[in-house]
Amino acid sequence: MKITAVIPAAGSGERFGGKKQLKIMGGRPLLFHTLKPFIDSELINEIVVVVPENDMSQLSRELKSMISVKPMTVVAGGDTRQKSVFNGLKAASDSSELICVHDAVRPFVTKDLIEKAVNACRDHDGVIVAQPSTDTIKKVMEDQILETLPRETIWRAQTPQVFCKPALQEALELAEAEEIQGTDEASLLERIGYQVGFVEGSSLNIKITTEEDWLFAEAIYNRLND
Ligand code: CTP
Ligand code: MG
Repeated sequence: MKITAVIPAAGSGERFGGKKQLKIMGGRPLLFHTLKPFIDSELINEIVVVVPENDMSQLSRELKSMISVKPMTVVAGGDTRQKSVFNGLKAASDSSELICVHDAVRPFVTKDLIEKAVNACRDHDGVIVAQPSTDTIKKVMEDQILETLPRETIWRAQTPQVFCKPALQEALELAEAEEIQGTDEASLLERIGYQVGFVEGSSLNIKITTEEDWLFAEAIYNRLND
């Protein structure tokens, strides 16, 4: 089975206050740490990195010097994450059968986690990595609680998210045609009836969204690299 990793890294980091995917951690841009397990995993045949248009030429050069063991393509992103993922999908090779989407800003993904999700995708149209909620989740309106959701049914979606390529392609095409924006790719498949499974992830697989998240990320990085 031929598998392409698509790494959306074309955001502007509004909530963070800058391009967090290129911020230096442990001497290298965050994106490089995220890519490492995808380079190392033998299940991943090629990598497509989706970057901001303005950083295309510099990042292409830097990434190509880093990765020589497998094909890597660098493409420009769009103005939404969904468009960036679509651009990445279009750059995957024709022979690719599964697409593994992973946020550039989740640098603590591991080879094991990638392979667990990929292997589970053999029985589904897609499989995502998720974590059971440890918080009690409330449905609210304005300043009122409407309802407390049963916690045992609530899981927090992460990436990697792995999909059969034709299913992801159809989901992205229909979402674009109907002007639907999903916050992840799985939701776009779910809405058109595909079966998406999940495997349990890791609480270290955090997404860096805000400046505070950088503090947690540095703590995790330091502990893992002691
Ligand atoms: N992303 C992308 N193209 C976009 C927007 C986001 O490739 N147009 C990528 C980001 O670079 C990141 C991932 O999608 O790796 C998750 O997005 P998010 O955390 O929302 O990052 P930003 O969009 O950069 O941040 P913000 O929403 O605060 O502007
Ligand atoms: Mg965003």
